[in-house]
Amino acid sequence: MEYLMGIDVGTTGVKILIIDIEGNLKGSSTVEYPLITPKPGWAEQNPVDWWNATCLCIKKILKKTGIKGKEIRGIGLTGQMHGAVFLDQNNNVIYPAILWCDQRTAEECKEINNIVGEDKVFEITCNPVLTGFQAPKILWLRKNKPDIYKNVKKILLPKDYIRFCLTGEFATDVSDASGTSLFDVRKRNWSEEILGKLNIPVEFLPKVYEGTEITGYVKKDVAKITGLNENTPVVAGGGDQACGGVGNGIVEEGKVSVTIGTSGVVFAHSEKVIVDPKGRLHTFCHAVPGKWHLMGVMLSAGGSFRWLRDTLCDEEKKEGKKKKIDPYEIMIEKAKNIPVGSEGLIFLPYLTGERCPYPDPYARGVFFGLSLKHTKSHIIRSVIEGITFGLKDSIEIMKEINLPIGEKFIASGGGSKSNFWCQLMADIFGKNIARLECQEGAPFGAGILAGVGIGLFEDVKSACKKILKEKDIFLYNEENFKKYENFYRIYKELYPSLKKNFDNLSQIL
Ligand code: XUL
Repeated sequence: MEYLMGIDVGTTGVKILIIDIEGNLKGSSTVEYPLITPKPGWAEQNPVDWWNATCLCIKKILKKTGIKGKEIRGIGLTGQMHGAVFLDQNNNVIYPAILWCDQRTAEECKEINNIVGEDKVFEITCNPVLTGFQAPKILWLRKNKPDIYKNVKKILLPKDYIRFCLTGEFATDVSDASGTSLFDVRKRNWSEEILGKLNIPVEFLPKVYEGTEITGYVKKDVAKITGLNENTPVVAGGGDQACGGVGNGIVEEGKVSVTIGTSGVVFAHSEKVIVDPKGRLHTFCHAVPGKWHLMGVMLSAGGSFRWLRDTLCDEEKKEGKKKKIDPYEIMIEKAKNIPVGSEGLIFLPYLTGERCPYPDPYARGVFFGLSLKHTKSHIIRSVIEGITFGLKDSIEIMKEINLPIGEKFIASGGGSKSNFWCQLMADIFGKNIARLECQEGAPFGAGILAGVGIGLFEDVKSACKKILKEKDIFLYNEENFKKYENFYRIYKELYPSLKKNFDNLSQIL
């Protein structure tokens, strides 16, 4: 038999899955690793932990599925984006990887804007420089750890370090490279102009490929340790969002997905480069060759709901334990009893600051409109509604910049497991919400890219057509949509009117 493997080097752990050439999931395994936060706002990991976890996870999944290494025809890589892995001339990791959620580089972002010019960076990379992106991390290391920086010979994105370990090749893909602030998103290659101005040698960076191109082959020693076959092809793959887009079938004009995990992402395919002139959405190359995608990333979507469970919902946790059901289900049952709009209680989900549409580390969560009539059930519903309003913000920007978006969105991630939340999304967005049968997202997308890369499928679009099937659909209710619009109008005005207060609060703290 012939199979494909998708490897997702995530933030909490590595997830690996195997699919057959019809796209049926044969199994998946995960192995976790620690997140290191040496200072508030810092987020690091040890790339060697990723590699050890990957080797273990490959062995685990081969054992679990009974599939032999030689039956794996191709491997696709995906993972957390934006991180920086620093290697010396012997290819040793010489500093912990600084991750996408690390906030230490506010100064370096300003520096890049000063040196290159804010407009120039935006013109070339199609995005503003953000603290989580890779370039400011490189400047931070150069300034703060000169003794380490002087030994740097290669700088890789997280999944590309795993590629190097698997194949010995230094390579990346266009979608992940788009999140570095060093990449010409229109020309789909490194920007010599930015690299020159920032004095970062292009030799430090890996060669760039389209998502489906083969970048190398599994090495003999790796085959021995993992059980994979020597010379198994490894395709470029993509960042976790771009591969999630492929896994959700967001590979042609008009297609949009909404993913509620810890973060919340609205992801849209684009045939050409379309940029939000205000920089509120990211425009990146897609893992689909020659295409782009736009996305809005909220930092605390499911994260806000988890916070609510862990701070206010002990009762629901206990009940869940007793009934052997997820406490989220009990919370959602309570939310169902409350009318649309939570009787005027509005939640702003900025618990860890925000990225899209407000790149503001100082923004904070708010309950607005609280009154004596409000109960815990109102609070639960308002949190679900507030998260969904936050996602709607990105959809509204997509409309504003004339990005073609269809009438049906694909929902994925933990939040989409709930029928109630899917219907609520449909009613708030004024769009129908569909779910796919297989909701494995990024590693599934990486597996599809591998299948295209080795010639099992003709191209990404036809592979997705063949493999992905819709499970169900939630049609939006016009009456509820109109009611929600009234609350959304107020929601939208709250952040701008509170911005100054968020700044002042951060000064005091
Ligand atoms: C995308 C982003 C996250 C990370 C971690 O821009 O920051 O998706 O890749 O998952």
